[in-house]
Amino acid sequence: MIDKERMSSRELGLLLAQQLLDVEDLHYGLWDADLEVSAGNIALAQQRYTALLLALLARLLADSKQPRLLDIGCGTGHLLQQLLQQGYRVDAVNPSAHLNRLVRERLATLAQQDTSLFECRFEALPFQQLQHHYDLLLFSESFQYIPLPDIFAQAPGLLRPGGRLVICDFFKSAAHCDGEHGDRSFSGGHLLADFYRAVEASAFQIRHDEDLTTRVSPNIALLDEWLTRRLQPALLCIDEYLLGAYPKLTRMLKWLARRKLARARYKYLSGHRSQAVFEKYKSYRLLVLELEAASTQINR
Ligand SMILES: C[S@@+](CC[C@H](N)C(=O)[O-])C[C@H]1O[C@@H](n2cnc3c(N)ncnc32)[C@H](O)[C@@H]1O
Repeated sequence: MIDKERMSSRELGLLLAQQLLDVEDLHYGLWDADLEVSAGNIALAQQRYTALLLALLARLLADSKQPRLLDIGCGTGHLLQQLLQQGYRVDAVNPSAHLNRLVRERLATLAQQDTSLFECRFEALPFQQLQHHYDLLLFSESFQYIPLPDIFAQAPGLLRPGGRLVICDFFKSAAHCDGEHGDRSFSGGHLLADFYRAVEASAFQIRHDEDLTTRVSPNIALLDEWLTRRLQPALLCIDEYLLGAYPKLTRMLKWLARRKLARARYKYLSGHRSQAVFEKYKSYRLLVLELEAASTQINR
């Protein structure tokens, strides 16, 4: 089931970040006081995030025999690989053709061969086939990409009675749309208030809700520094070279793309996507939701 879609700008951003920063994960990291905030420590901070999730899953699934998980939006498959190495039975769903090539390469190196990789969006999973299949659905920084109504309509049918959703992602805080400096400079995330309302109306109960915003926000400072201090000077050099070598063509292309360029300059290179702005407008949360035992039929 291959979802052949054009690469979106958000997907391109994820892929560039992964390639330029040379990391295996596409999630933020956890930056606690003992870890210096530096580009060299990004992979370590990401592994701390993974360790937090793995410890949580071990606690939640301690009483389940051979639990089966669905890793939703599995990125490069690095977390999926670690889950499989811990002995969980895990399937994955991921719509990105480029990332899925990496996931398949990774899976081919592993001993376990019973993982299904659904190459589509969560919304397009074959829900009827997968009824009551999973003990836990994991959304590691993928929750924000999926419409809330789709999640709450389909998740109950995928889970066994008492099954859980584990969500680690950022949401829009109550400050969203206040019109102040930095408002809406970061896209992405469901409104936290909408999420709580959707849970209220669903068959799930919140069992754990932890605010990790200030533990992940140093990532934003690093990214902002990298964009403004590294990427910006590199782009200026390329611009100078192109203007010297192909002046007419470069001027024409820049004029044609002037609106997009101005938007990208404001968004990525103006320095206003700061750690403080992120902490004000986003709320990064680790959540565990549990399905009421009697609610596992598919709601269509
Ligand atoms: C920020 S990355 C997180 C990747 C990985 N879970 C991790 O923790 O490193 C978001 C992932 O969600 C996937 N994604 C985007 N839209 C999706 C959708 N509608 N359904 C399922 N996955 C989606 C992307 O392709 C990408 O793999």
